Amino acid sequence: MTDKLGVAIVGYGFMGTTHLSAWRYINECEVKALIGRNIEKVREVSKKFGVEAYNNIDEVLKRKDIDIVDVCTPTSTHASYSITSMNAGKHVFLEKPIALTLKEADAIIEASIKNNVKLMVGHVLRFFPEYMKAKELIDRGMVGEPVIARTFRGGPIPEWSPWFLDKNQSGGVAIDLAIHDVDYLMWIFNSKVKRVYGVVRKLVHKDITAEDFALINLRFENNGIALVEASWALPKMHPFMMNFEVDGTNGMISFDNQSPVPVKLITSESISGFSPESLPWRPAVHPFPVDPFYRELKHFVECIKEDKTPMTDGEVARRSLEVCIAALKSAELNMPVNLPLKEG
Ligand SMILES: NC(=O)c1ccc[n+]([C@@H]2O[C@H](COP(=O)([O-])OP(=O)(O)OC[C@H]3O[C@@H](n4cnc5c(N)ncnc54)[C@H](OP(=O)(O)O)[C@@H]3O)[C@@H](O)[C@H]2O)c1
Repeated sequence: MTDKLGVAIVGYGFMGTTHLSAWRYINECEVKALIGRNIEKVREVSKKFGVEAYNNIDEVLKRKDIDIVDVCTPTSTHASYSITSMNAGKHVFLEKPIALTLKEADAIIEASIKNNVKLMVGHVLRFFPEYMKAKELIDRGMVGEPVIARTFRGGPIPEWSPWFLDKNQSGGVAIDLAIHDVDYLMWIFNSKVKRVYGVVRKLVHKDITAEDFALINLRFENNGIALVEASWALPKMHPFMMNFEVDGTNGMISFDNQSPVPVKLITSESISGFSPESLPWRPAVHPFPVDPFYRELKHFVECIKEDKTPMTDGEVARRSLEVCIAALKSAELNMPVNLPLKEG
């Protein structure tokens, strides 16, 4: 018998296996079950990690030694897996986006409240050291008042799984990819979005149902403005790129994942660079020092143990979904859309 929290992971693809690796470094937890549709394939993966394989979540939910279900399946399945798990009394860590519609997001949030269990959505940028560094500098007033931001996130079309190419399963690039930066921007501006103008298109891949390009203009309640660009339209050999720039009344911060000095702070007085070695939040003794997935899961466990609200709970995640749905609506109407949305 152990007093560790038992974890079950649904989905063993890119994110499921990434989480599986990260969970192994969280001493308070033990991954006990892996769930997927094809039992042979699940066995192949689960054997490597020494966990039990299932192709039926209901069997896992009956287990009293499972406390947390980590949902890493295609977005169209997020609502059903997370709600079933919470109704069985399990805490749920859910990959982003929370869901594809606001109705589903509301049902997920309601299940967590009704069952008095924790819900966290994997808006992992808040746990990337570079993004955390920029947030820290902004909060310390190093750029003055942030007024405008530009973000880019993109690479080749995610061919590793065909479901991304189906708009009904992934929501396309606006909901699947741009949502990362939308969440981050609301965090750093410390403000909700009040108006959205989106250009969302099939730029290169015309034969799929999902859009591969989004350019989204945001106006925040505190009057900050931002331009979010997300792309699956880059050539196959292109590296995955993430960058941003935040301009404030007294300086600017930039980040570029292709640069050896990824974070820069420029003010009227000085230019400072922050390389990975100089970034903070590196626990001295931990063998998995800067992995953002480790950090977000660890945060979730702390919230369960200390009865705290996760930083990216259901309401926070719903907010960024609403902005991305508004971008799609705006693109359809070819005009700005005000929030909150009346439906979605
Ligand atoms: N935080 C991030 O940076 C990040 C990055 C990538 C993706 N994501 C998110 O993570 C989630 C999973 O993405 P992924 O890249 O891991 O996808 P993936 O590699 O395709 O993995 C999906 C997994 O779910 C299983 N699956 C597929 N359909 C299912 C269904 N209907 N019921 C049960 N299992 C099903 C798949 O196995 P079978 O097909 O064999 O059943 C596979 O194991 C998505 O919501 C995505 O948006 C987040």
